[in-house]
Amino acid sequence: MSEHVKVSVDGGVMEILIDRPEKKNALTNAMYDAMVDALASAAARDDVRVVLIGSTGEDFTTGNDLNDFAKVAMGGEARAWGFIQAIAKFEKPLVAAVPGLAVGVGMTMLLHCDLVYVAQEAKLSAPFAQLALVPEAASSMLLPARIGHAKAFEIFTLGTPVTGEGAVVLGLANAVTPRGDEIRAARAACAKLAKQSVGALMATKALMRDTAPVLERMQREGEIFQRRLKSAAAREAFTAFLERRAPDFEGLD
Ligand code: COA
Repeated sequence: MSEHVKVSVDGGVMEILIDRPEKKNALTNAMYDAMVDALASAAARDDVRVVLIGSTGEDFTTGNDLNDFAKVAMGGEARAWGFIQAIAKFEKPLVAAVPGLAVGVGMTMLLHCDLVYVAQEAKLSAPFAQLALVPEAASSMLLPARIGHAKAFEIFTLGTPVTGEGAVVLGLANAVTPRGDEIRAARAACAKLAKQSVGALMATKALMRDTAPVLERMQREGEIFQRRLKSAAAREAFTAFLERRAPDFEGLD
């Protein structure tokens, strides 16, 4: 349970709304846990055929709460792993609505969604190297496969954001809309999917997504990510964010 994740079911569709707009919907451990519980419930319930992941406010999510990452660097726990595994293993259609910022896992989770609707104001970015980290959620495999190595490397290292229109051009999203309409477009798609045979939808998704190599890549990424989270360079990146200054990686690996 988290007050920052709203879950509802109606007409065969479960909506999971990330709801922490005052922190740009940054994801805490409790929020990941709530989303994992929601996905488990959606998988088990016959009255849920499709899941929509959206948000309240102007942003989708700015990714992992960097305060939580800073705690992991000091020996705490990262609960993002449970969530990215759950989303990769989820067998029913996943539809996303992205009104604004989608940073880090906010962008990489979209690679596990089957339909993605973005606002013109959407800004997708995954600047892992700038935080002294590495890509996660199998994005080191899925993003270059989707958009090519050069673009993916640029996103991971230079941190170049993808606009709403760019997301459609690159094949990361289905459609771009004026802000506010992306959730309506996602809901309309969900309503259509919810009227179809759930067996056919799940079989189609299973044929299109090869989960085993994705989970294997996540495992490899996870081992490196955990090590990097505890590195002096990552600690510097998180401290710099909290102190609202640019990081200084001089002499740090
Ligand atoms: N973790 C923790 N807090 C976050 C956050 C995150 N990922 N993203 C935003 N916030 C918080 C800010 O600390 C701020 O809190 P405050 O009002 O208590 O100071 C609030 O949300 C608003 O964000 P702010 O940074 O003031 O907005 P901005 O428009 O100036 O900048 C970003 C927006 C996205 C550029 C900036 O918030 C950012 O870089 N966030 C971190 C993104 C990131 O690196 N995510 C992890 C990827 S692995």
